[in-house]
Amino acid sequence: MSDELARVDAAAEALRPLALGARYAVVLGSGLSGLADALEAPRALPFDAVPHVPAPGVAGHGGTFVAGRLAGVPVVLMRGRVHAYEGHDAATVVRPLRALARLGVPRFVLTNAAGGIRDDLAPGALLRIEDHLNLTRMDPGVGLADGPLGPRFADLTGMYDPTLGAALDALAAARGDGLHRGVYAGLLGPSYETPAEVRMLGRLGADVVGMSTVLEAIALRRMGRPVIGVSLVTNAAAGRPGARLDHDDVQRVAAASGVRLGALLAAFVEAHP
Ligand code: HPA
Repeated sequence: MSDELARVDAAAEALRPLALGARYAVVLGSGLSGLADALEAPRALPFDAVPHVPAPGVAGHGGTFVAGRLAGVPVVLMRGRVHAYEGHDAATVVRPLRALARLGVPRFVLTNAAGGIRDDLAPGALLRIEDHLNLTRMDPGVGLADGPLGPRFADLTGMYDPTLGAALDALAAARGDGLHRGVYAGLLGPSYETPAEVRMLGRLGADVVGMSTVLEAIALRRMGRPVIGVSLVTNAAAGRPGARLDHDDVQRVAAASGVRLGALLAAFVEAHP
């Protein structure tokens, strides 16, 4: 067994009571933790009670696993996540997701706060991630041979599950919730991008930009788990009209629009248990 598989499985042992029976695992990004309050019969476990999972050190990232029922459906939420910009390697960033996948959680929803690059993405907009640009220069497959965490060479086509994604689009349309679609550029951070970098990202095909999600999506894809990704646009990206880059603003907008995202996700898991 690889050292990393042993660490993942040690984390999984601690998470087993929360994850067993969960139909979804949902990662709540910056300022989006409010969804955890919507759970019925919540059971919580702090990140630092899970071996090899570091507690996050960023305001707005609570660092708790919470299991419970969302619209009657068993789910496990991650309030907060591990970020590479805190100095962690890719394997550490994705370890909680790999542990939940090892425990049999069948579907994953990754949410994040992001800067809007495309003109029509004002603060408060929701965007379903159809694909990403991994610009972190990291990959959670590094150091792994073929094994339970996936094949060494993984095809990432369709990583953000097109079928689940289309179902989310249809549900959002039926509810009258605006849900954009597009490409998420994942950068290492923690500095925000320069205006020149934002112009470059737009030319490369990115619609939104953030500092998370891509490594998690890759790790889950490598384990064959379908992923839904949703970005909540908290600000215009650097250099775009109206851009203001401030973590407190990011959290404020995320908390306000996070309620809409939470309601949409609750309706989604209820419709697709
Ligand atoms: N850039 C990167 N990450 C972000 C941003 C941004 O503009 N907004 C929220 N997270």
